[in-house]
Amino acid sequence: MSKRFHIITYGCQMNVYDSRVVAEILRRQGWEEVDSPEVADVIMVNTCTVRAHAERRALGRLRGLVGLKKQRPVKVGVLGCMAQHLKEKVFELVPGLDFAVGPDGYERLPELIEAGGAYFPPLTHLYTGIHPQPDRPYSAFVTIMRGCDSFCTYCIVPYVRGRVRSRPVNDILKEIQGLLDRGIKEIILIGQNVNLYNYDGIDFTKLLDKVADMGIERIGFLTSHPKYFDMRVIEVIASHPNIIRELHLPVQAGSNKVLHRMNRGYTREEYLALIDRIREAIPDVALTTDIMVGFPGETEADFEATLELVKHVRFHYAYMFKYSMRPGTVASKWQDDVPETEKLRRLRQLIQLQNSITRERRLEMMGNTYEVLVERKSRKGDEYFGRTIQNIPVVIDGDVQPGDTVRVRIIKLVGCTPYGVVSG
Ligand code: SAH
Ligand code: SF4
Ligand code: F3S
Repeated sequence: MSKRFHIITYGCQMNVYDSRVVAEILRRQGWEEVDSPEVADVIMVNTCTVRAHAERRALGRLRGLVGLKKQRPVKVGVLGCMAQHLKEKVFELVPGLDFAVGPDGYERLPELIEAGGAYFPPLTHLYTGIHPQPDRPYSAFVTIMRGCDSFCTYCIVPYVRGRVRSRPVNDILKEIQGLLDRGIKEIILIGQNVNLYNYDGIDFTKLLDKVADMGIERIGFLTSHPKYFDMRVIEVIASHPNIIRELHLPVQAGSNKVLHRMNRGYTREEYLALIDRIREAIPDVALTTDIMVGFPGETEADFEATLELVKHVRFHYAYMFKYSMRPGTVASKWQDDVPETEKLRRLRQLIQLQNSITRERRLEMMGNTYEVLVERKSRKGDEYFGRTIQNIPVVIDGDVQPGDTVRVRIIKLVGCTPYGVVSG
């Protein structure tokens, strides 16, 4: 039997990384990864369940893939957070599905693919010793911790990913060294709340400091939680020019009442004070965030408070969502009382505001020169795509190669993306 597999990934960076873990586990068993589901013997969908929409998309995709069985023998499996959330029920929702595996069960995949069925082990695993190969040539995610203990009242992640556990420092460093040896230029350390990393007394500050000294061109990290943010991280960033000058600090809401009901553990004032201190220490830092509208009980005045905060902070970029009730969470017991049309109106208004701020921020780049790490050819053709040390995307006109770092002078915006020419 030929052993070709294909993985389709939904969700956050944690899933992107886990799909590579799956690929590595199967590769070690003689399997070969293929680029398209059409030529695969086994197709897996790594799923997200953070909002109802993510789940609907994944289920739709799985049903479509199961339909391929009419044409040829193929096995279809579901991985990740939605599988963990739905458990065996997923087989009823997707008739014809062959196997389902939770985020911590991938080491049993070779058997499950053969035999079919479900495997949802306790959420305590770390995949120590499995060092996946990235699917992009110059940048790689490295998971440093798994799980989340924060229990924000809206969020399903702690239920489908388990409690926080940190990977052994040596395992992380070994994985990163392997990536460096392969020519990787950029490493992004990831976890639901990297500030809680702790392995044998090595906290996130110490880990970041160690990684930054390994001779990597660029290092970034995601996600920081405002409640646990440690200002010593800022000192490490300030003393390492190779650490990306971007901090992703999800704020979620601008009203203290809503923040409290979300169980975020900080007030609007504390968040703003943190931003001030960060900007004072690293003036060129780009701040990005996640924001949610339509949380149960969110009034017009609460929403206005979010808009005010966004205007005040002027984030470089924001990921914006409307609240989606998730079964099993604390907030699911409260009435989802903001009507759908109102959620949509608030979301549109917020997106419009943030888009104009993002555009202003990028217009401020005009005429300036930035060090840009070239990632790939741009989707449209002759130009290249890269990022500044603030992680801002840039389209480059010039004779460059992916993996190069070049100086680029910004001359215009194309849509919202700065466009620049290579300058000396
Ligand atoms: N660990 C990160 C993000 C996890 S999920 C953090 O703590 O911020 C990514 C984003 O999805 C969250 O920041 C939040 O804005 C959004 N999100 C989570 N649950 C949601 C829900 N039930 N409805 C809508 N958005 C949600
Ligand atoms: Fe979800 Fe909150 Fe944990 Fe982020 S910190 S994953 S939003 S529970
Ligand atoms: Fe990520 Fe979605 Fe799971 S956001 S951790 S893939 S529920």
